[in-house]
Amino acid sequence: MPRTLFVTSALPYANGPLHIGHIMEYIQVDTWVRFQRLRGNAVHFMGADDAHGAPIMLKAEAEGITPEQLVARVAADRPKYLQGFHISFDHWHSTHSPENTALSQDVYRRLKAAGLICVKPVEQFYDPVKKMFLADRYIKGECPNCHSKDQYGDACEVCSTVYSPTDLINPYSTLSGAKPELRTSDHFFFRLSDPRCVAFLKEWLETPGRLQPQVVNKAKEWLSGTGDKALGDWDVSRDAPYFGIEIPDAPGKYLYVWLDAPIGYLAALKSYFEAGKARANGEPRTFEQFLADPKVEQIHFIGKDIIYFHTLFWPAMLKFAGAPYKVPDHVYVHGHLTLSGDKMSKSRGTGLSPLRYLEVGMNPEWLRYYIVAKLNANVEDIDFNPEDFIARINSDLIGKYVNIASRTAGFVNRHFGGRLPAGPLESPLLKDLQAAAPRIAEFYEQREFGRAIREIMGAADVANAYIAQHAPWDLAKDRANDAQLETVCAVSLNVFRLLTLYLKPVMPELARAVEAFLNIPPLKWDDANHLLLDHKINPYKHLMTRVEAKQMDALFGSLNGNGATAAPGAPAAPAAAPAPAAALADAGTISIDDFRKVDLRVARIVEAEHVEGADKLLKLTLDLGTETRTVFSGIKSAYDPATLKGRLTVMVANLTPRKMKFGVSQGMVLAASGEDGPGVYLLEPDSGAAPGMRVT
Ligand code: 2FM
Ligand code: ZN
Repeated sequence: MPRTLFVTSALPYANGPLHIGHIMEYIQVDTWVRFQRLRGNAVHFMGADDAHGAPIMLKAEAEGITPEQLVARVAADRPKYLQGFHISFDHWHSTHSPENTALSQDVYRRLKAAGLICVKPVEQFYDPVKKMFLADRYIKGECPNCHSKDQYGDACEVCSTVYSPTDLINPYSTLSGAKPELRTSDHFFFRLSDPRCVAFLKEWLETPGRLQPQVVNKAKEWLSGTGDKALGDWDVSRDAPYFGIEIPDAPGKYLYVWLDAPIGYLAALKSYFEAGKARANGEPRTFEQFLADPKVEQIHFIGKDIIYFHTLFWPAMLKFAGAPYKVPDHVYVHGHLTLSGDKMSKSRGTGLSPLRYLEVGMNPEWLRYYIVAKLNANVEDIDFNPEDFIARINSDLIGKYVNIASRTAGFVNRHFGGRLPAGPLESPLLKDLQAAAPRIAEFYEQREFGRAIREIMGAADVANAYIAQHAPWDLAKDRANDAQLETVCAVSLNVFRLLTLYLKPVMPELARAVEAFLNIPPLKWDDANHLLLDHKINPYKHLMTRVEAKQMDALFGSLNGNGATAAPGAPAAPAAAPAPAAALADAGTISIDDFRKVDLRVARIVEAEHVEGADKLLKLTLDLGTETRTVFSGIKSAYDPATLKGRLTVMVANLTPRKMKFGVSQGMVLAASGEDGPGVYLLEPDSGAAPGMRVT
């Protein structure tokens, strides 16, 4: 019986573009989902933007737009990434949607009716200027332990002491600079510590096969914590102003973003049903009927940083909200992506821009293959290393896999009119490869992708050895060898067809090109059971190019123009450590009057564009509050223009205009960089700054 799978990946915050960490997760889920479709299972793969919360509200305010406008701008950017990397969501939605409002309020009401919501007063810092309560990250002050200034409200970055914001000496709001006041407000809590929740979670976590063992251990640690570490009730309300969903019957109170975010999975599903897309995808039932069916498998893929929310709050919310809501069948957790061993920032995901990857013309299926080849079912980080990337793609995909077709297809066309023989083909090589199908399927099923790829490439090695041994190029010299030549080519192309099928979840576009070349309908997993015989194929066209080192240079290119690459470990500049800053004394000293001669202003980037013919420059249109300026800036290698639009930065506003080949540059934006890389970092004022403000 085919399975019915409702699959999600974590919803990205709608405050910025997707970074390589998101793309890695999508590649993992998409590969799994495509494998399930090939097997004949019904898959409904949902994604959405996670649109709510204070950071999005404040970012929009800083840009002078509404949160809805910010969220819409970010959403408009998504297809470039998703289509660019062949991510096959069946539907993409938003948590800022009528469906999510209705479902979140419904879940909340049901939890309340179940006696699992309580009210408790909470004393918290309040910003009297912004007129809002402040989350810890918006409060800074002097560390009560080591007296370092400007430390965050939760822990000191200098001496690592953990404290609460009220312990800070001279605290201030990072939003307005004002001294925060302690105020009390009623908050709503989900009673996760209720014995019903604890008992349910124990059972849910321990269901065999539901979660990875590492994840069960982590969640059980939290569940069984005592003292300071005891599982507390969960504060699910926030006071206005907040960009979120109103709590029913509680004016001025909003649901905390982490309550409505996972409900966004269901909102996406509901919108997918209501748009008629589920029906078009073979699902005749309503959203409610579908959800209520215990045979539907609900599966969430997430990163290791959000295990807490998905293995404690989320299943408990669903359980106690009751039918038709159902608890997740599986939560599959992956590690993070490092770049040549360095951790990437979650919010900025610096280092490998997915958009730049596409813009420099790199093949998205190279990245899909590289990531899949490294993934397994454990919660382990995987590393992107540029040299390894080049070697892996060129050796596996070009040297082993594509090579099988390119070394044999021409003979079929030239010697046999493009026709494969009627067979039968008695080939141990083919028999073994057909017999490998269930094993490879199980690796895909279990998310042991690296093992699937090793098995596939092992078979490609054997096939290449077979071709080398039979040397079709020698056989082709004498027509007396035609029968043998025909068999060698037919075996090779049948191997190639099977390898293509096994790689199809990873490289769907390449598989499409191979299907066109072999002149066959789209391959399905069951096609491993038969061979392609007595069949006319099309002329062979080259299927994939090699990765060039210069493409890596373009991907990680730096500003210094000497060919060195900026990314750590990129081929031309391996393992570049952060460049030391120039010795401070080198800069000499200036008087305050000298400094004041420089008119530094906050500017909003209203437009950022590539400049035709300039390989280092971006053309920026800057809003200074009272006027607009054009500035050409050498930051192209570090920034994708789409990610700059709307951002605030700092510019030198009284620089003599400079005539350049591409136009007049009316100033300069400020960016930090090391002596010779890696990278440049545009300055950005704290939220609350407005275009035209002087920087002093
Ligand atoms: O950590 C994050 O990026 C969240 N936006 C993930 C949310 S996943 C789900 F709960 F919506
Ligand atoms: Zn300290």
